[in-house]
Amino acid sequence: MIGIDDLAMATGTYRIDLAGIAGRLGADPAKYYQGLGQTEMSVVAEDEDIVTLGAAAALPIVERAGRDQIRTLLFATETGIDQSKSAGVYVHRLLDLPPNVRVVELKQACYSSTAAMQFAAALVARNPAEKVLVIASDIARYELGSSAEPTQGAGAAAFTVTADPALLTLEPAAGLFTTDVMDFWRPNHRVTAIVDGHSSISAYLEAIGGAFDDYRAQGGADFGAIDRFCYHQPFTKMARKAHQHLAERSGIELDRETLAAQVDPTMGYNRRIGNSYTASVYLALQALLDDQADLSGERVAIASYGSGAVAEFLAGTVPDGYRSALRNSTNEQILADRPQIDDDSYLARQRTMPRDDPSNYTTGHETRGPFRFAGVRQDQRIYQAAR
Ligand code: CAA
Repeated sequence: MIGIDDLAMATGTYRIDLAGIAGRLGADPAKYYQGLGQTEMSVVAEDEDIVTLGAAAALPIVERAGRDQIRTLLFATETGIDQSKSAGVYVHRLLDLPPNVRVVELKQACYSSTAAMQFAAALVARNPAEKVLVIASDIARYELGSSAEPTQGAGAAAFTVTADPALLTLEPAAGLFTTDVMDFWRPNHRVTAIVDGHSSISAYLEAIGGAFDDYRAQGGADFGAIDRFCYHQPFTKMARKAHQHLAERSGIELDRETLAAQVDPTMGYNRRIGNSYTASVYLALQALLDDQADLSGERVAIASYGSGAVAEFLAGTVPDGYRSALRNSTNEQILADRPQIDDDSYLARQRTMPRDDPSNYTTGHETRGPFRFAGVRQDQRIYQAAR
């Protein structure tokens, strides 16, 4: 038995209520609250990036597991900070991991965290003593004033993949789907993504549907035998759309209560964090595990989508006793502690990128997290403990 043994999260220091940007964008806040299923989004401090968020998410995991237990660190992101060096190597130092660790970064839009989980599971299958640390960390940025702006966000999920896992035992069947489509991408020279919003929704549904069909063909459980569904959530309404799509594909008519029970408990964190790209589906899993009274023995699906596009559908079972491994009160605290900023403060932060001189700049000390990005000197990124 192989799967997720520990799971933790981190997010940007600040939050903005989407009502705070609705006026400038000429929208009714209800469009964001109900239409997209989003209430807030996290905004990073000047001295936060994917490395500081990823390291903050992973810190409690390595403290619980023991630093010498981790022999592989897989860093999934689509907010890459360097064309060559893995963000994971900076995290490796910040976490004070020993040198005998394999570290690599993976990319395929929001999907690569699930690829990382599968690669981790393969390593553990070869050597059941291995503990693999997976970190998914992203900052979602779109053009200011665009219809995609309210679907920004920032967050990281970190988890270990081990034998005899405490949180989710993965089943072997996995459904895959890849197609070359330009629904969302970010060329190297841009800090914001290019997206064709409505076609990205169709591309997501087509890919998740294709992955689910393949999952069934590979011997995966039928729709009715899955209790809960964690979807990639660029905005939480997307999970409901995807669920209805899969139900229709399976010839099942979902009543409101069943749909709500199978999907809504996965939305609690993403609704408040916004899109965290690679982390999103694992924040959905974390919200589900944290929220429900007892999921022991239930089958939970993970439906992962990365634009461009790759999707994977798989499932696992929640082991007995999983609640003792949760971090639910810490997670709630992380979200509740974020100070709220107004639209002016948010806009000022968004406009600092790209930098006038990207080779040399210093950041102010703002983060409330354990690590900070102090700036760039002669093209070298400087990371340090924040306190
Ligand atoms: N009250 C309640 N609901 C309202 C409303 C109001 N006053 N006004 C509008 N709505 C509803 C609409 O009916 C619609 O609901 P349905 O989709 O259920 O019909 C919803 O609010 C959104 O309205 P629009 O479609 O008019 O919104 P939009 O065109 O302004 O933009 C968006 C929505 C396309 C998602 C845009 O925010 C966007 O481009 N986001 C980025 C792309 C994205 O997230 N794509 C998702 C799939 S791709 C992916 O998953 C990868 C990834 O992470 C990016």
